[in-house]
Amino acid sequence: MENVAHSARLLKWYDVHARPLPWRVAPNSNRRADPYHVWLSEIMLQQTVVKTVIPYFETFLQNWPTVHDLADCALEDVLKRWAGLGYYARARNLHACARMVVERYGGVFPTSEKELLALPGIGPYTAAAIRAIAFDQPASVVDGNVERVVARLYALKKPLRDIKVLIRQKAARLTPAKRPGDYAQAMMDLGATVCTPKSPACDRCPVRENCAARQQGCAAALPVRAPKKAKPLRTGTAFLVVRDDGAVLLRQRPAKGLLAKMLEVPATPWCRKPEDGDCFGAPVEASAPVETNWQCVPGFVTHSFTHFDLRLEVRTGRVGQEQPLLHQAFPERCRWVPRRRLAGEALPGVMRKIISYGLGEPL
Ligand code: ADE
Repeated sequence: MENVAHSARLLKWYDVHARPLPWRVAPNSNRRADPYHVWLSEIMLQQTVVKTVIPYFETFLQNWPTVHDLADCALEDVLKRWAGLGYYARARNLHACARMVVERYGGVFPTSEKELLALPGIGPYTAAAIRAIAFDQPASVVDGNVERVVARLYALKKPLRDIKVLIRQKAARLTPAKRPGDYAQAMMDLGATVCTPKSPACDRCPVRENCAARQQGCAAALPVRAPKKAKPLRTGTAFLVVRDDGAVLLRQRPAKGLLAKMLEVPATPWCRKPEDGDCFGAPVEASAPVETNWQCVPGFVTHSFTHFDLRLEVRTGRVGQEQPLLHQAFPERCRWVPRRRLAGEALPGVMRKIISYGLGEPL
């Protein structure tokens, strides 16, 4: 395939069809995107779709207009604003990275691949995206969308996990020296809006004449993915305690491990074997945070984490203002949160599900 034909066609299409996104500058413009905006958006966009990211991106910029502001704030505030985006290691690394950019570089993002890769949370993909989009360097940016586009352009029919390196090589050869930032975003937009996973709109594709899969009629079938492995199931019981004034009992999770330092609804440990009570042989009640008349909410709350699926039963209980917390609840990490404040707390998605399920209303 002729690289110039490919990138020229794609850039011409991008000039007309670029999605206006809040972290972008218009195509073919003399201005460059702000590296802080590019970095923040790229971290948010890992594992998350554009539509979900936009309001988070805007809230972050309102709260922390510069990398200095983000570096100065407390991690707990970042976790609060990140709540609902998932993959919270990204938020921790984001905060650590902001601090390092300020300490090491006076708040100015470095431009070299080596320096970018040394920052927390910045891997090869994000480093390439920052270099291309913010600094217009001819870095090749390959995410899942771009992998799909390249696999189709070359009709690569082996399972995706076996051809990742080949795709990278081909993507690098396609990247033009001129307008690499626009080109990177054009490939992403093409993948997101035209060369979509299930029913690609080949009729609208600016590079259909360069596409081997289109010629062979197999675009929709590529890339070939190995079947997903079933995840192990963990189970448990969550205790949603509501005080007479409507406040809900929440607890900060330990500083290490999954969802570290975020808030949770007190619960039994999440057990690998459903028949084991709370996993340690203790009855479920031994994890209850207060003594009350517990009501079982019919059904379950389910949530899928990266390495396991979770299924929780929810029990609700009402208590008065003076009700003491049991020592098994780790009272030092517990606090009562007024109903109207719940939505703004650092509550991960699974905890939001438990609360709205238990209360019978959205958060
Ligand atoms: N997905 C990841 N990065 C993106 C970007 N800069 N624009 C659109 N979608 C993206």
